[in-house]
Amino acid sequence: MTKERVNPRSRMVAAGYDRIVDRFAEWASTAEGEPKAAWLARFAKLVPAGGRVVELGSGAGPDASWLASQYELTGVDISEGQLERARAEAPQARFIHGDMTTVEFDAASLDGVIAMYSIIHVPRELHPTLFARIAGWLRPGGSFVGTLTASDDPGWTGQWLGVEMFFSGFDAQTNLGLLRESGLEPVESEVVTTHRPDEDETFLWVLARRS
Ligand SMILES: C[S@@+](CC[C@H](N)C(=O)[O-])C[C@H]1O[C@@H](n2cnc3c(N)ncnc32)[C@H](O)[C@@H]1O
Repeated sequence: MTKERVNPRSRMVAAGYDRIVDRFAEWASTAEGEPKAAWLARFAKLVPAGGRVVELGSGAGPDASWLASQYELTGVDISEGQLERARAEAPQARFIHGDMTTVEFDAASLDGVIAMYSIIHVPRELHPTLFARIAGWLRPGGSFVGTLTASDDPGWTGQWLGVEMFFSGFDAQTNLGLLRESGLEPVESEVVTTHRPDEDETFLWVLARRS
């Protein structure tokens, strides 16, 4: 990955995730009410088995093994530490160490794009362009499923799970509008709160189709 092409906030995110491979996996496993499986099932109803699917911010690959059993999967992550674990989780998948805002895929070459809890780490001024890039990679009728912020956050930097981390995003209605403007028509969306011993978290889940 070319460092010059990564913005400083994403470089900080990558360095943080490199250091918390085990800690993040353990923390993620404590969520009550995690809706990932339900949204992946909705995605799977729209995206035929064997299709070409890209997961943006695939992390350590908690879902990569199942996804790779269904699809021709490519995972993209900015953290080499997370990717090392993902490669072991899903040896049959392809993984790219890269930034989702600059990684390249051919136009109309994908059946699906997945981004769970990852776009929330990308500076929000880059989101409209990122959504347009995703729409451009999808073939007409292709599907996007992802987790986005549900409330307005111009940008937060601070300590999270013991490392410096960055989050940002828009409120739910703005996100849905930005997706539409990018050519990704929301099919289903829901604001969901998950519960953990230390905190509750609320996100917008959305399934959208390339128009
Ligand atoms: C909260 S974790 C989620 C991992 C996985 N999707 C899951 O659901 O468990 C966010 C992941 O997004 C990755 N990420 C953050 N910003 C990124 C970017 N600009 N490009 C690619 N990956 C990014 C991080 O390195 C991290 O692995």
